[in-house]
Amino acid sequence: MAGIWLIGAYGAVSTTTMTGIAAIKAGAAPRVQAGIVTEAPECDPIRSKFPLEKIALGGHEVRFLDRNAYQASEKIWEENVHFQRSYLDASKNELSKIFAKKGTAINCGPGVDALGDLQTLEGEGLTLSEIVGRLMKDYDSFKNKNGDVCVINAASTEPHITLGEEHQSLDAFEGLIDENKTEMVTASMLYAYAAIKQKIPYGNFTPSHGATVPAIRELAVTQKIPYMGDDGKTGETLMKTTLAPMFKMRNLKILGWAGFNILGDDDGVTLSKDKNKESKIESKDKAISSISSGSFGTISATKGTITDIYSTNGTITNIAVGTCTLSPSTTVAAGALQAFVIPCSQSSGERVNYDVTISYSTTGSSITQQATGSVSGRVP
Ligand SMILES: NC(=O)c1ccc[n+]([C@@H]2O[C@H](COP(=O)([O-])OP(=O)(O)OC[C@H]3O[C@@H](n4cnc5c(N)ncnc54)[C@H](O)[C@@H]3O)[C@@H](O)[C@H]2O)c1
Repeated sequence: MAGIWLIGAYGAVSTTTMTGIAAIKAGAAPRVQAGIVTEAPECDPIRSKFPLEKIALGGHEVRFLDRNAYQASEKIWEENVHFQRSYLDASKNELSKIFAKKGTAINCGPGVDALGDLQTLEGEGLTLSEIVGRLMKDYDSFKNKNGDVCVINAASTEPHITLGEEHQSLDAFEGLIDENKTEMVTASMLYAYAAIKQKIPYGNFTPSHGATVPAIRELAVTQKIPYMGDDGKTGETLMKTTLAPMFKMRNLKILGWAGFNILGDDDGVTLSKDKNKESKIESKDKAISSISSGSFGTISATKGTITDIYSTNGTITNIAVGTCTLSPSTTVAAGALQAFVIPCSQSSGERVNYDVTISYSTTGSSITQQATGSVSGRVP
């Protein structure tokens, strides 16, 4: 047996992963090859060692702990209808038996607070060492039951805290935990530290700190435990990180870059808070800004509302939403975030779908760029 332990177990990424695996196991969903890296021939050895059929699932959450994974997945499915209902039905038998364990949300910022009532280990009054102890115990029992397991952090993006001397060496970091310096750690650091301490590989699907902190990397190297990741880079970020080096190699100057990030539901709620959003924007833009001094944009939308337009330097000249045209002409300073709300007549809870065109010009350039896409979600 083997297993995947998901942090943020009842979120969209995790429940979609769990439902897909369970539906394939139940023979109800096709084993799609395209776009699945582990289905590539290079991964034959991995697939034969860890066949999907033998992968157990579990995870940590900070909400809805009275639900099982099937109920959590059903809730997200009802809001998004993002795959066939039959997959959900087929997963019921397996997912109904999975209950997420209580996790930590230390320093996860206003974006996670905004998700509603949180049930956390620190809420029980536990110290940092006690929290780490509980996480290790959860990992340990999953590992004892299922053999080779890994931890994947698919929880909401947390804000980055400033890393100091205490984060540079394992000794100093363990000192922080012993002395219960709660302001100097984040939840993802604790999840990563506890996993690697238990010799469990750790992957960061979020742009949160996780195992990227030097002290935790030191632990991973000492323990010889693999760690990886700094955001999933599945869509827009994938395109950026692939195309940007190519432009650089071909000596093509990037004048501007705008991208839509159609954020749905809870991920959109989290990233509508500046502190949490900064980590995501940093992750999205560092690939390009590290190789060029151009102007880039990320346009995010959540629940039928365009929340942010990010441009490092330029002027937003026009936004057209469906049949309605808003005409802001706004200068966006370097690193500034701009918020626009789409007026809509639908009532709360209704699904909306808008075509959106945003035009902006880069400072110092006569070129007006346009980004076109659609925004969909439920009216909050
Ligand atoms: N959706 C994508 O394609 C995609 C791509 C790349 C990266 N990501 C990143 O993956 C993460 C998950 O995305 P999502 O769409 O599933 O978001 P989501 O909001 O649907 O799910 C996040 C879940 O994490 C839980 N959570 C928050 N803080 C937690 C903590 N400290 N411990 C345990 N659970 C916690 C929330 O309660 C929620 O259920 C986000 O950080 C997102 O930015 C998503």
